[in-house]
Amino acid sequence: MTKDSLTLDAPATDALQLGPRDGSNSRKVFIKTYGCQMNVYDSTRMSDALARDGYEPTEDMEEADLVLLNTCHIREKAAEKVYSALGRLRDMKKRKAADGREMMIGVTGCVAQAEGEEILRRAPAVDVVIGPQTYHRLPDALRRAKEGQRVVDTEYAIEDKFEHLPIAEKTKIRARGVTAFLTVQEGCDKFCTFCVVPYTRGSEVSRPVAQIVEEAEKLVDGGVREITLLGQNVNAWHGAGPTGQAWSLGNLLYRLAEIPGLARLRYTTSHPRDMDDRLIGAHRDLRTLMPYLHLPVQAGSDRILKAMNRRHTSAEYLALIEKIRVARPDIALSGDFIVGFPGETDQDFEDTLRLIEEVNYAQAFSFKYSTRPGTPGADLKDQVPEEVKTERLERLQALLLKQQHAFAETCVGKVVDILLEKPGRMPGQLIGRSPWLQSVNVDAKASQIGDIINVRITGTSTNSLFADLL
Ligand code: SAH
Ligand code: SF4
Ligand code: F3S
Repeated sequence: MTKDSLTLDAPATDALQLGPRDGSNSRKVFIKTYGCQMNVYDSTRMSDALARDGYEPTEDMEEADLVLLNTCHIREKAAEKVYSALGRLRDMKKRKAADGREMMIGVTGCVAQAEGEEILRRAPAVDVVIGPQTYHRLPDALRRAKEGQRVVDTEYAIEDKFEHLPIAEKTKIRARGVTAFLTVQEGCDKFCTFCVVPYTRGSEVSRPVAQIVEEAEKLVDGGVREITLLGQNVNAWHGAGPTGQAWSLGNLLYRLAEIPGLARLRYTTSHPRDMDDRLIGAHRDLRTLMPYLHLPVQAGSDRILKAMNRRHTSAEYLALIEKIRVARPDIALSGDFIVGFPGETDQDFEDTLRLIEEVNYAQAFSFKYSTRPGTPGADLKDQVPEEVKTERLERLQALLLKQQHAFAETCVGKVVDILLEKPGRMPGQLIGRSPWLQSVNVDAKASQIGDIINVRITGTSTNSLFADLL
């Protein structure tokens, strides 16, 4: 057991000690989330843990007693945003203090993990810095901060944080809507040479089946119809079935598909190396599993893939895509791309464009290579000049956008099931989600939110589709 985990054994007393200050009914926490869906999920879990200590969430930073920045370190720009936000928060904290109001500032997430103490040095207004593996200790850290300490906790906790983080009660789950994230796997052992994740999130850990099933059932009980399983490498998830047999993500999906009332399953993000036959079989067999797969490849040149330590070739990736399409012909594919990895030549870049042409993506995310301190890529010679990166990114994005629009056009005229998620922009309209993750605008009543309805797609706009009720 680590030194800080000792206080974990007494959550009830924690709650008493931390109770609302100066007689007011509650304290308010504002959480700003950067980065990936896993951070979104973590922010929810932290919010629930803080609720036990009397903190209510607020959307208004001005009235917050506590501001948390849940940060991302993936690219330089993402990390820089944090320090500029902290500059603004320092001023706000001073102004509030002049009015006799206290405001605490916490930094969580991947910048917290990567920079730790350094954040306290660069941003003296920060009270607590908590890494992703120790979110269950946040209430304790805040108490110590209240006593005047500045707390940094970026250990890789031995205890399982999920066992110590409360799951929200039914009413709260209901208020959050009909779709939900559920982290099943964290961390990464792949060590792609450009990437900080193995350093910020630690090594691969899978949550046990029973814990995941329990959380999924609670979500469904709270009205959730669609669950997206999350992991930095979600398809590296592994666990044990009821009789101790080895389970991969495919098996877990079959198990979750049995939960009554759970209409849709998705998962993200996957690595091509971990797409096993069981998982591909789940795409073939489970109607609950949506026909959409985010399978990043990053580059199309074998030389660059090798330098990135992706551990597969472009031909292997294409063969895998083919196999998945045989299993589930209507699957929509999505990917991530990096342009300008050190040493990337014009020819290497052309190879990436060719791979994109061959796959034909429904959706994709693309980035200029960003040098990350501490990663092997940072030490490579032949860094690509910024203007070359810019030009390549423009060409790549133009191609991906063309494919995305073409995919949307193929949907027009189709009859599909959509999950009604939330009110639309116009009165009398709702926004639903297609099986392929597109937003669909349709005329429907607010009472239908949570229903899955059959519609005909009638048209497209930049980022969404239009449909008529059948
Ligand atoms: N585990 C996933 C990726 C998680 S990070 C996978 O292996 O595919 C999300 C995306 O950010 C990556 O797919 C990559 O495209 C991008 N990315 C990661 N590090 C980057 C860097 N240093 N510069 C630019 N983009 C990066
Ligand atoms: Fe990063 Fe590679 Fe791990 Fe994905 S697989 S999180 S890109 S190191
Ligand atoms: Fe960013 Fe950490 Fe997610 S670096 S992308 S928040 S895992």
